[in-house]
Amino acid sequence: MKIRQPIVSVLGHVDHGKTSLLDMIRGTTVAEREAGRITQHIGATEVPLEAIMDICKDLVKGKSFKVPGLLFIDTPGHQAFTTLRARGGSLADLAVLVIDISQGIQLQTVESISILKKYKTPFIIALNKLDLVQGWVSTAHGSFRVGFEKQLDEVKQSLDEKIYKIIERLYQHGFSSERYDRITDFTKNIALVPVSAKTGEGIPDLLLMLIGLAQRFLEKELETEEGPAEGTILEVKEEKGLGTTLDTIIYSGTISRGDTIVVGGKTKPIVTKVKALLKPKPMDEIRDPSERFSTVKEVSAAAGIKIAAPGLEGVIAGAPLRVARGNVDELIEKIKEESKATIELDEDGIYIKADAIGSLEALAYELHAAKIQIKRAEVGDVSKKDIIDTSTEINPLNRVIIAFNVKILPDAKTELELHPDTAVLLNNIIYKLVEDYQAWIDKKKRELEMEKRAEIVHPGMIKILPDHVFRISKPAIVGVRVLAGRIRVDQRLMREDGNEVGKIKSMRIGDESIKEALSGQEVAVAIDGVTVGRQIKVEDILYVDIPEAHARELAKLELTQDEKEVLEKVKEIKSKEKPFWGR
Ligand code: GTP
Ligand code: MG
Repeated sequence: MKIRQPIVSVLGHVDHGKTSLLDMIRGTTVAEREAGRITQHIGATEVPLEAIMDICKDLVKGKSFKVPGLLFIDTPGHQAFTTLRARGGSLADLAVLVIDISQGIQLQTVESISILKKYKTPFIIALNKLDLVQGWVSTAHGSFRVGFEKQLDEVKQSLDEKIYKIIERLYQHGFSSERYDRITDFTKNIALVPVSAKTGEGIPDLLLMLIGLAQRFLEKELETEEGPAEGTILEVKEEKGLGTTLDTIIYSGTISRGDTIVVGGKTKPIVTKVKALLKPKPMDEIRDPSERFSTVKEVSAAAGIKIAAPGLEGVIAGAPLRVARGNVDELIEKIKEESKATIELDEDGIYIKADAIGSLEALAYELHAAKIQIKRAEVGDVSKKDIIDTSTEINPLNRVIIAFNVKILPDAKTELELHPDTAVLLNNIIYKLVEDYQAWIDKKKRELEMEKRAEIVHPGMIKILPDHVFRISKPAIVGVRVLAGRIRVDQRLMREDGNEVGKIKSMRIGDESIKEALSGQEVAVAIDGVTVGRQIKVEDILYVDIPEAHARELAKLELTQDEKEVLEKVKEIKSKEKPFWGR
């Protein structure tokens, strides 16, 4: 049985040095050792075992390894990690979590940890930027273990303090960790390897830890069978002269030019023939953009490769790919099954979007963990139809789209402006989206509460003032004082004996027309359906006629003391007709 290289994903907070670390691993070997021993494929960097042995030669001392090398995934951050999905799990066999040794654990570090936890991926931690630790004397490309012994005592101490802080934080997230050279049982502790992507110090230790981990824990998983290739799409890219191409990680078997492939698409699997397998040429060969790639006839796992083929529009990142050998129909069914995001949807809930199947799953996982219900989950940018569908949700609290690492398309933006009660929360950090959603829902609930309050008829008591009858009828216009509570236009009034005496048609103070008058205010009120001197007269006390259902709602709201008193009075009046009115 052949053993393939483990696929190693690099995760971590922005600017903590993920790319630099890979650059260093690539660069040192390319620049200082034989050129071409490290091949940079699409989105992935293959580091063969000989190159690793060379970098680590001072540390290995006669050890031998079966793993043929490491395949680093070269796209930064957890996006790549979640895209590398296979059958609902992760395609990454191992991960390196990069943490800036002085900055410690930051937002995206936490997010990365949570993703690693979810997928149960073994990982080690690179504590980067060692060269920036005060007083540290670097040895370029040296071993950390050797370099540490050469430092002054206070430098050793201050480094260990930084490391200890990180160990403590990791413990809070459920992980036991330790400086790698102090670990005796690697099944119980996560290894922390101090490194510098700038000087290369600690890189030998890091690579050796990775190879060792792979050897110890993954031998079975890394066995590959000969046969048709299986892979995962990392990115779908337009290339000049080639059309739509697929940056693909092949994790099993072999793919050749001319092979029939089945790939997961937005709506259904796509069947096509491989026109070309492409590898980017080394940097110094990029002169003419049309010749950025060299073609190969065949590629075996594990490898990163760009695939050109007709009809690839509609393929999505994270989708599975299979080479067919006369079993196309069977593969179509298989791909259909595997392309489905494993997300449990709820009857009722919000709408989520993400750039790839894996990231959609990761987003759903975090939202569910925060007890947020999801009704729809789809890969792709936010479209006009998405906005329309969301804005017609019956529950206003579901009129929101949570969108991870995608764009709002221009016509969707225009549509969104027409629906002020519909929101799209965009971010490329999942935790931020969960937080933003919680803020949005709180605000929305407060707004709805206020709207509801405004609709409920509140208690109010007024007195018709003497010498302020402006019109006798049709409508009657009288000056009143609000004695308690509030009155509003369109509300009905009643007398103390329970008789209805018309509806407030309009109100004004001086020349200004108003909708509501509060306790203490004196206003002119137009009342429909009454005549002064008959149903009402000066010095009369009138009450707002509260519908019974509203009286019950009012019991749940916070009312002022005088509102409460007026409500009691209204209940007393009403209960003469109906004993338990409003209770
Ligand atoms: P994103 O891809 O944006 O998430 O960042 P990243 O994690 O890939 O970080 P990147 O490698 O781009 O490094 C960020 C900055 O830190 C750059 O200016 C690097 O030069 C610097 N840097 C990275 N590693 C080291 C290190 O070991 N020592 C020092 N002194 N600087 C470093
Ligand atoms: Mg980067």
